[in-house]
Amino acid sequence: MTEVKQPPLPTEEQLSKEFKEYSVAEFFKRNRQMLGYSGKVRSLTTIIHEAISNSLDAAEEAGVLPDIYVEIQELPDGHIKVITEDNGTGVPKKNIGQAFGKLLAGTKFHQMKQKRGQQGIGISYAVLFSQLTTGKNTHVKSGIGDHKVYECDLAIDVKSNSPVIINEKEYSKNYRGIRIEFEFSEVTYNRSEYSVYEYLRRTALANPHCQITLVEPNKEVIVFPRAVKEVPAKPKAVQPHPLGITTSDLIEMAHASTSRKIASFLTSEFSRFSADKVKEIATLIPDVNFDRAPRALTWPEAEKIVNTIQKLKWIAPETDAMIPIGESHIEKSLKNLLQPDELKVIERKPKVFRGGIPFLVEAAIAYGGKAGANIGGQTKAEVLRYANRTPLLFDAGSCATMEAVKNIDWNRYDLKDWENQPISIFINLVSIHVPYTGAGKMAVSPEDEIVQEMRNAIMDCARQVSIYLHAMQKAEEQEQRRQIFFKYIGEVAEALHDITGKPQKDLQDKLRKIAEKRTALMEAMDEEAEKAEVEDLDEEAEKEIQDE
Ligand SMILES: Nc1ncnc2c1ncn2[C@@H]1O[C@H](COP(=O)(O)OP(=O)(O)OP(=O)(O)O)[C@@H](O)[C@H]1O
Ligand SMILES: [Mg+2]
Repeated sequence: MTEVKQPPLPTEEQLSKEFKEYSVAEFFKRNRQMLGYSGKVRSLTTIIHEAISNSLDAAEEAGVLPDIYVEIQELPDGHIKVITEDNGTGVPKKNIGQAFGKLLAGTKFHQMKQKRGQQGIGISYAVLFSQLTTGKNTHVKSGIGDHKVYECDLAIDVKSNSPVIINEKEYSKNYRGIRIEFEFSEVTYNRSEYSVYEYLRRTALANPHCQITLVEPNKEVIVFPRAVKEVPAKPKAVQPHPLGITTSDLIEMAHASTSRKIASFLTSEFSRFSADKVKEIATLIPDVNFDRAPRALTWPEAEKIVNTIQKLKWIAPETDAMIPIGESHIEKSLKNLLQPDELKVIERKPKVFRGGIPFLVEAAIAYGGKAGANIGGQTKAEVLRYANRTPLLFDAGSCATMEAVKNIDWNRYDLKDWENQPISIFINLVSIHVPYTGAGKMAVSPEDEIVQEMRNAIMDCARQVSIYLHAMQKAEEQEQRRQIFFKYIGEVAEALHDITGKPQKDLQDKLRKIAEKRTALMEAMDEEAEKAEVEDLDEEAEKEIQDE
């Protein structure tokens, strides 16, 4: 056998030469699809989504009714110019660079508050996308309501993920909010089902306290008017619940804590952690000293604490920091927009997922009227998916909402062919931490507890629609029955008149009375049967929920 000659192995120097560091901006520059920048229509919708969700968060933070302006212009060179403006908190001059010119920087990531934004990437990446596709800077105007306005042009230094600010100016004027002007290529404006138009329509639907104006490239002005004048409650920060904490979280929090002892760190930085609970844990793991400084907490100790936490009974997490849209507002919004023949809205009680993260589900089904989507001239069912009132327009296939909708036995609700019916199914997931499937934040991870709650909520609504459909069907049958009776009354009266010689009109009146009595009796019987059927449906659904 001849020996195969192996090539020499790479040297240490050659291997080391290949190691390079790069910034988060460089990473997303190469992986734009991860943030929703794939396809020309979707990319434009993503830009608007990032700007508008920040505007709504900022209006909530400021405690004002949001006034949002969006303008899309088609420029002669084929670029698209986007202008957005809001009346939120604004951003202080010294933080403009971090807010708009640095990825993974912002005011939301570290706070346990119900917000649309979570990551500190959204708007900064839109700024970078503008730069990457047109080479232009983004213009930002900001005011925090202190009679000063700040304007600048900015770009992102990709290598260092840091802002580059030029053309700064400051002047005095009464202004509060943010105005952004940026240019893009590789984007298109239209009114398709994944468009900016549809995104704003859905935003208006779940945010009836908001006024949105859209100026389209052809200068058409569309206003989604404010339907309610109450400012939603301001989101409040909560502390983490012990059951939702991992060893790594515990270590990180302990090492950053200013508490003197591990015991006081636990009681002061977690919700539901009483001094008695610390004692209970301490007796179960006597080798951990809870009087030591939290900075000295080791991984094995933290792991023991977390494992013991899982074995104890805890009061459920606080749920009052969650702000749903509310049944009456959803009802108003859907009635306004869809004018459905039947509508059922439900707000479920708060639940927890992953042991300690609270969430709640609001859902509605609208049937008939303008409900459903018109796709190629055909009416189809539509699922209006939301997380913290933000529309989820893409990635439906991997979303908890669709998993819930698909797992329902629609036959049971007389909606066998539901996908081809005039139905709008509305689902909003409310949580301080929405478990998105990706950094693009367009789908909710199908956690068991979340899917189950969504399913129960939709089933509650479907039951009501089924009752309505039954009633409609019965009314139609009764009408047909009546028509048949009355059709023959004339002929029967004529025959009787020939036999008895009695006046035809008297005979007709008498026969009509008999027919009315008979149909009323049959209708009453129908109603009884109907009631029994609904009760069966309720019982069945309840049993199913209990079984699960
Ligand atoms: N319109 C605005 N009004 C007030 N503050 C804003 C506005 N837009 C952005 N900001 C500030 O800039 C920060 C960064 O925004 P960005 O969209 O990049 O991240 P985020 O909203 O925190 O999280 P996400 O990546 O999930 O959107 C925000 O946290 C906020 O403090
Ligand atoms: Mg954001």
